[in-house]
Amino acid sequence: MTEIPDVPPNVVDAVHRRWGPAGYVWSLRVTGELQELCSRYKARPIQVLPARYSFVVAADTPSHSLILRSSPDPAAPAQARVSDALSRLGIAPRIHEIVTTDTSLWIVMNRVLPGTPLRSVSASHAPLDDFLAPLQAMRGKPAPITNMPSIHEWLFYRLNDNMLTDLPPGQQQAPEAQRRQAVKILDQLSTGRIDGLCHGDVTPSNIIADEEGRLWLIDPRGMSGEVSYDVATLALKLAAHERHEANKIAVLLGKKLGLDADRIQAWIRVASAARV
Ligand SMILES: Nc1ncnc2c1ncn2[C@@H]1O[C@H](COP(=O)(O)OP(=O)(O)O)[C@@H](O)[C@H]1O
Ligand SMILES: [Mg+2]
Repeated sequence: MTEIPDVPPNVVDAVHRRWGPAGYVWSLRVTGELQELCSRYKARPIQVLPARYSFVVAADTPSHSLILRSSPDPAAPAQARVSDALSRLGIAPRIHEIVTTDTSLWIVMNRVLPGTPLRSVSASHAPLDDFLAPLQAMRGKPAPITNMPSIHEWLFYRLNDNMLTDLPPGQQQAPEAQRRQAVKILDQLSTGRIDGLCHGDVTPSNIIADEEGRLWLIDPRGMSGEVSYDVATLALKLAAHERHEANKIAVLLGKKLGLDADRIQAWIRVASAARV
């Protein structure tokens, strides 16, 4: 691929549906922005990577394998700040530059090679110990912005939204009774609440492996929170949303990280009902 690629039609559709006119303008301008970025970096686009709400392009410069990622998400600046914090901890790819335009936010970062997302290597068989280093590194660290949106409010909002449309593929909204119960648990979790650094969306497609099998985190939610929540969502996703199995995985991970098992299990119930 030597020419500047177009945004995949599925991304254009998804972005239009989710962000309306802002998404539309983004999709009109993003290819021109990529062209500019490529000429500045002397980068040659290699491949457009599968993504849902962003334009993710692998490109080679004379010295680096890069990922150029553009997002129209209004939350993208906060996401970029979290990516930067994770990158400084050595658990997310090195960031070369964050570029803000009128319609999008670009992150220029190192490409992790081969960068296989965990979903395609059977997540449930990945050794659990590989996940410990990135989780441990985030633990107890402050959020990169004071007063940034927190996963507490985001989850509360999701649980109370009767018309939730932003659902993971193939999932339906949880029954109201389950959501009401989850709101109570979320309220109990306010005791001992931590609004620190967390990833917020530790799903297998946001965990990519390099040649040595080391795991890197990409695409954070851009919210403050706690590592117990990340452990809970990771366990839930590794167990393909089967709560009993998720609890088992979470207990194992939590023990090794020295985290409170009851708290992680409470997060699993909340995350499960919120269909994160
Ligand atoms: N730094 C990177 N190195 C290698 N692959 C990457 C990198 N960033 C993103 N990708 C690939 O692009 C895919 C989509 O990127 P992501 O940022 O998660 O976008 P989305 O908003 O669609 O979830 C990832 O699953 C991964 O395969
Ligand atoms: Mg992602």
